[in-house]
Amino acid sequence: MNMFNTFGITDTTFRDAHQSLLATRLEMKDMEPIAAQMDQVGFASMEVWGGATFDATTRYLAEDPWERLRQFKKLITKTPLSMLLRGQSLVGYKAYADDVVDAFVERSATNGIDIFRVFDALNDEWNLARAAAAVKNNDKHLQMTICYSVTENGKMGGPIYSLDYYLDRAAIFQDMGADSLCIKDMAGLLSPYDAFDLISALKKVVTVPLQLHTHYTSGMASMTVLKAIEAGIDVVDACLAPLALRTSQPAVEPLVVTLQGTENDPKLDLDTLIDLGDYLESILPKYREYLETPKASVIDAKVLSHQIPGGMASNLVSQLREADSIDRLDEVLEDIPLTRKELGYPPLVTPMSQMVGSQAVSNVLFGRYKMVSNQVKEYLTGMYGRPPSKVDSQIKEAVFKFYDTSEIKTINERPGNLIEPELKEAEKAVADITSDVDDILIYALYPTTGMKFLRVKHGLDLQKDTLDLNADGDPSENHEITATGTQEVPVKSLKTRSFNVFIDDTFYKVEIDPVDQNMISISDGIRNPEPSRDSNPTLHGSSANSDGELKSPMPGVILKYLVEVDQQVNQGDPIAVLEAMKMENTLPSPKDGRIQSLTVEPGQTVVKGDLLAIIT
Ligand code: CO
Repeated sequence: MNMFNTFGITDTTFRDAHQSLLATRLEMKDMEPIAAQMDQVGFASMEVWGGATFDATTRYLAEDPWERLRQFKKLITKTPLSMLLRGQSLVGYKAYADDVVDAFVERSATNGIDIFRVFDALNDEWNLARAAAAVKNNDKHLQMTICYSVTENGKMGGPIYSLDYYLDRAAIFQDMGADSLCIKDMAGLLSPYDAFDLISALKKVVTVPLQLHTHYTSGMASMTVLKAIEAGIDVVDACLAPLALRTSQPAVEPLVVTLQGTENDPKLDLDTLIDLGDYLESILPKYREYLETPKASVIDAKVLSHQIPGGMASNLVSQLREADSIDRLDEVLEDIPLTRKELGYPPLVTPMSQMVGSQAVSNVLFGRYKMVSNQVKEYLTGMYGRPPSKVDSQIKEAVFKFYDTSEIKTINERPGNLIEPELKEAEKAVADITSDVDDILIYALYPTTGMKFLRVKHGLDLQKDTLDLNADGDPSENHEITATGTQEVPVKSLKTRSFNVFIDDTFYKVEIDPVDQNMISISDGIRNPEPSRDSNPTLHGSSANSDGELKSPMPGVILKYLVEVDQQVNQGDPIAVLEAMKMENTLPSPKDGRIQSLTVEPGQTVVKGDLLAIIT
């Protein structure tokens, strides 16, 4: 494949652009009409799949992601198609078994992907190895990807994310058989002059082509892209103007004009691009509800000062609001850099951004590391791979002191080695519905929502009865994220829209069915609160819990109980698993005793303070 012979532009309109701005909701029927024309533009490649598309199509759109890919391949015959792949986590949020990785890459290649952009949130080659090998086995283009992060002050440098760090990662990734390398700046943190230094240095030692993927979030991306081009970058990512800027990519049109007549002229036709943009403008109004437009500014200047990705910050706001603690946002924003440092400076990209963010919320609400999600515990054992820097040993001790250590062992090998094969079991689980390998993979990746999708696809259920179609796009999706919630939501009409409404300082959530214009529900008004600090629940032997009542410390979904009625338990034994802030949290018994009753159904949504169990 020769797509990297001259300077080129990768178009992200059909994947990252609408993932970033519209919660990945663009439907295939709205992209199809211009796919063939996009193919004629002359892009180096087109990113059309992967990231959150697989999850969003099955969870929200009732659209077969494999069919989408095949359709793109049919319509786009010249331009190589690329996808984003999260290493061992593929297009999901957890590590999958090697047999699932192999099968998924093979099917993606067969269905139409030419370029696999493979990354890991921790830049750990252990998590990339299997997927990378699978891409090579299928004779496809392997683009190994380095997530860009900063240590502390927004600049490249410091003890972790120095130029040497990136040179080291690049050398290792290139040796794994990369056909090209990509710097992936998911939060728009790469500043123009750092980009120049980084790309210049990489070009001296890297022999394969180099690509830059960045986001406009902080407002620097257009300048950063230009400096990267001056430093000799081979390919940059951009997208059509209607889906550009904000948390998406830089717009392609001004870039084309900027480069006209230079040695890096991509020679793309401006009028064609403008026509294509006009088409997008014609279909985008119906997606407007997903566009976050609370502010006049299209950039998030605060990212420049606190380095917290824009989407992650808005996620924290909604989490704190649900927990009735929005007044503590500043404390959480202060806790995040500390928590990140203690956890070994992970880049704030999926799933680390959710883990660090929800841990900071817990730290502020319940005391530092008093409540720790199962995901963070697994991270501390090494199941997510190796952090860029050492985890604070005191934190590790604190976490393991509070929780059952018998289930926690520290591993020091490729985490994928420890996962039993999963494909056969997935095949059995859907045997009554389908034997198609693509279907089996949908289930293997997303057992809960995937099964719902397959039942709809094969006519066993009606779409509206099963699919989770609330309009709450996860704003943090602009970093290759989506909501990971396995939680069930109440059945709503397909088109239900929900609005957050403030009247004076009282907040209401209003749901409206636009088809018959009826208001479906309106939540109780929540006054913008000044909650008393001492009313916050604590988890371990607190006075609130010592009477033997286990109450929910925050809103969420009870996934399951780990005990049965009449069972004897000791204080601290795990009683229930609460999913909150997309993390699973094991809730411990407040005292020694016998389980008298378990008071909610697994799958049930609870609010802060709901009774979960009585121990006598
Ligand atoms: Co991106």
